[in-house]
Amino acid sequence: MITYEPTTQTFHLTNGLISYVLQITAYDVLTHVYFGQAVAEINGLRRYPMLDRSFAPNYAPATTRGYSLDTQPQEYPCGLGDYRSPAVDVRRADGGQYVDLHYRTHQISAGKPALPGLPATFATDQDAAETLTIDLEDPTSGLVVKVQYSLFQSLPVITRSAEIQNNGTQPVTLTKALSASLDLPLDDWEVLHLDGSWGRERQITRQRVTPGTFSLGSTRGTSSHQHNPFLALTHPTTTEDQGEAIGLTLIYSGNHQMTVEEDQFGSVRLQAGINPEHFSWQLQPQASFQTPEAVLAYSSTGLNAMSQAYHRLFLDHLMTSRHTHEVRPILINNWEATYFDFTTERLTPIIQQAARLGIEIFVLDDGWFGHRANDRSSLGDWFEFPGKLTGGLAGLAQQVHTSGMKFGLWFEPEMVSPDSDLYRQHPDWALALPDTTPLTGRGQYVLDFSRQEVRDYIGAEMRTLLDRVPIDYIKWDMNRSLSDVFSRALPPEQQGEVAHRYVLGLYELIEHLTSAYPNILFESCSGGGGRFDAGMLYYMPQTWTSDNTDAVDRLGIQYGTSLLYPPVTMGSHVSAVPNAQNGRQTSLSMRASVAMSANFGYELDLTELTDHELTTLGEQIAFYKRHRQLIQFGTFYRLYSPFDDGALTGWGMVDTPRSQAIFFIFTTHAQAHPRLDVVRFKGLAADQHYTVSGLTGVFTGSELMHVGFYLDPAAYYGDNNARTYVVTATDAP
Ligand code: DGJ
Repeated sequence: MITYEPTTQTFHLTNGLISYVLQITAYDVLTHVYFGQAVAEINGLRRYPMLDRSFAPNYAPATTRGYSLDTQPQEYPCGLGDYRSPAVDVRRADGGQYVDLHYRTHQISAGKPALPGLPATFATDQDAAETLTIDLEDPTSGLVVKVQYSLFQSLPVITRSAEIQNNGTQPVTLTKALSASLDLPLDDWEVLHLDGSWGRERQITRQRVTPGTFSLGSTRGTSSHQHNPFLALTHPTTTEDQGEAIGLTLIYSGNHQMTVEEDQFGSVRLQAGINPEHFSWQLQPQASFQTPEAVLAYSSTGLNAMSQAYHRLFLDHLMTSRHTHEVRPILINNWEATYFDFTTERLTPIIQQAARLGIEIFVLDDGWFGHRANDRSSLGDWFEFPGKLTGGLAGLAQQVHTSGMKFGLWFEPEMVSPDSDLYRQHPDWALALPDTTPLTGRGQYVLDFSRQEVRDYIGAEMRTLLDRVPIDYIKWDMNRSLSDVFSRALPPEQQGEVAHRYVLGLYELIEHLTSAYPNILFESCSGGGGRFDAGMLYYMPQTWTSDNTDAVDRLGIQYGTSLLYPPVTMGSHVSAVPNAQNGRQTSLSMRASVAMSANFGYELDLTELTDHELTTLGEQIAFYKRHRQLIQFGTFYRLYSPFDDGALTGWGMVDTPRSQAIFFIFTTHAQAHPRLDVVRFKGLAADQHYTVSGLTGVFTGSELMHVGFYLDPAAYYGDNNARTYVVTATDAP
């Protein structure tokens, strides 16, 4: 899949789906040539013209005045003579801030190497991927940057990362170390990204790329609710099913930055990596620094194909949990039903009713530990709240198990409350600036997870509990942004490392616990989807998508999330109405259809439902169980976007043989005398005949995909209606 042509010094990475082409040009600079649809042969057609551009520095002696780093399309730019954003920046022992990188050697190997201490994609079968490592060297400092590219056999994606080694004799300080950078030629580029807030995660924004730098990122210590580590370059003509899309994401859960920089000639530099703001890293001689992995995806057939590539990559080559490919259980969580106000007596009828309905896991959320009666205490004290549960957690777990369900428990391991035994014993374990009281967030402090002893202590506390109480599922929460990012355990010159060391420490503890308890299903959470990223998915195969459980708001949240993350990774629950976050009333059927479009569960007080509602729940649960293999693991298609002007939102899943599919269509606004929409499905086999639940007759895939049918007028009566269509292959009539 990866070839090197020595006469032109050209690398061609191709798997028949995409091509990625690099070339070593004059002065041994690694340049970018092409990323896009696969081409069988590369014979040097695209050459960057040697023009003498004004105010563009040249290497001396300037025999080739046309060769300037300021104009060359590069692969891992270092900023010397190039005024665009560099991928790496260094402060040397003599105070100089520069690095000058030139090709030295390369290696092509089978498989996909792991990245030390970091989540990354993998190939269990060595033949399924190939990796190119190119060494770039700075001749005067001895710094070597090993830029790494991996290509998977049947996916239109390229993974990239860089390892920076100090082979010199002096320490240096990295002040920027990105994972990927590439320069694309002039085009009518747009950038699409996923932004939002708590309760409004991953909304789609799309805008033109204009001269200057568009940058998104996080300095919150997490990947954040505000800007998911993802963007896509598209064109104004790119739709879900047509046109080019180049996706870029980062397998990382901390401070990140993604930029799109249009330069003076309209070329576009695309970059992703650890956010350089507040970042620095001391690199002693012989030490090395590993960046997180970035993943580029290419589609010439719109955003759906780009998303499908990411979904498959994550499921097959990223998520390590043994539960990844298992159908996920239907869950009930007590949070919105009781908040902190629970006792065994209050939970018992919910548990009994849940078991009767066929729900498969009961999850006890926040409030079972220390003396936590509200959100003002006890984080860090991961021992039971004495007397809160009759028979304690073990008794509750037994009760849940006896009822036939599994038992799940909530933790927030990275935090400490000022009112906790842990904080009283170890006030210095919280992140805190010298001589100041740290800022609180939700009344709590952040533990300094860059410190081994802090992680070890929390890990040991959790293990004590996990070894005593039979727990099948853990919800790992994280409810504030980092502030006061200073570690008492590090010297002054290393304080710029704390945020990244925090993430490395977090990964180490999670790796330890998920390997020690492989049967436990872990779900990550950060006040909903504040840390919904590929880094966490590497360890935990599902994420609580948002604290906003309103079905209508969830349409946008789940639609945006699906750009990158497969539905099986998105926790989605039916909650009570009026909705606790926005007060909206929606029907049970609407709430269930939205929640069923992903990893399904409930989060409401079952004892408050009428008999009729309980019967409906029983039907929903049976329906989801019948179709969840398809919903959780089918190929996902977005049909209609809630971010467009149309009346519909819609999506669906199709199984690999295209013999089963399910589509969900939603209307959110009532219309008198409605304009009628034609619904068209996607992903079916054109010539295959199908039946469709709710429609009379037998239709070919092409009729269903191209001709379509009018949505039934009742769907416009009243706000917020859902329609579900189960599509089944059948013989020709
Ligand atoms: C935030 C989570 O997103 C909620 O689901 C719930 O677990 C609360 N934290 C508990 O404090």
